Amino acid sequence: MRARTIASIAAVAGVAAIGYASVIERNWFALREQTVPVLPPAAEPLRVLHISDIHLTPGRHRLLAFLRSLASLEPDLVVNTGDSIAAAEAIGPLLDSLGPLLDVPGAFVYGSNDLFSPKPKNPARYLWRTSASDHDRDEPDLPAEKLGGELSAAGWLDLNNQRGQLTVNGLSIALAGVHDPHCDRDRYDLVAGPADAEADVRLGVLHSPEPKIMDLFAADGYDLLLAGHTHGGQLRVPGYGALVTNCGIDRDRVSGLSMHPQVSPETGKTAWLHVSAGLGTSPWAPARFACRPEATLLTLAPRSA
Ligand SMILES: [Fe+2]
Repeated sequence: MRARTIASIAAVAGVAAIGYASVIERNWFALREQTVPVLPPAAEPLRVLHISDIHLTPGRHRLLAFLRSLASLEPDLVVNTGDSIAAAEAIGPLLDSLGPLLDVPGAFVYGSNDLFSPKPKNPARYLWRTSASDHDRDEPDLPAEKLGGELSAAGWLDLNNQRGQLTVNGLSIALAGVHDPHCDRDRYDLVAGPADAEADVRLGVLHSPEPKIMDLFAADGYDLLLAGHTHGGQLRVPGYGALVTNCGIDRDRVSGLSMHPQVSPETGKTAWLHVSAGLGTSPWAPARFACRPEATLLTLAPRSA
């Protein structure tokens, strides 16, 4: 009798947790704020909106409304670290919800989910393996190039295996990015070499925060690396944190601001790293627990601050 009662309580608690994670927390969007001291002394702060892992399907009205609200932050620069769409029909609603942000200087890279439609799979398998080999034999079936073309047409820099340069509020920004290492489309060799030492700040951009790629960015002298992909672990255990990162980065740096330890022979410095826990989930794993969906406003400040 006692065992049956315990089993009943556990079943009710499980159903409640799944309901909370999929209905409430998945739509409980947060705006994080962080200050990163990477600008030259006396420079004016630069406000960078970091968005990632939107995984948009057209019916996600609360997500679209949150995206729409971000324009009121009036950032100086927007960086999107990929996995923006989960369906071809999401491109229009995504562009519509970004709205005025597309008039702000911006930059983007793709994540693997911009290329490949989500497929049903057991979400628990992330506990014992990553999804890195999921698309080894697949052909891309989502119009990532169309998405990229629209963002480029709006003026955002396409950083997929490319470098770029922006001047924002009088600050020169050197950028470089790679296509997603998670699906083996990164070509760091195409952007390799010392980052522009004359720029006021140097940003490295990638979807999946693979340490071996971040080592290369940091060694080339990039001051701040921006990534997504991990979803912050997506299902976290309170008091313990993320169970997995779905890539090579350690659990302690699964999301938020940290240092990447590689020292640059160019500058003698290490790089800051910001990993966004992202705004969405795969439609086939629609739950987040102790890991709210987020966008981050990074205030780049003078090093002396
Ligand atoms: Fe993602």
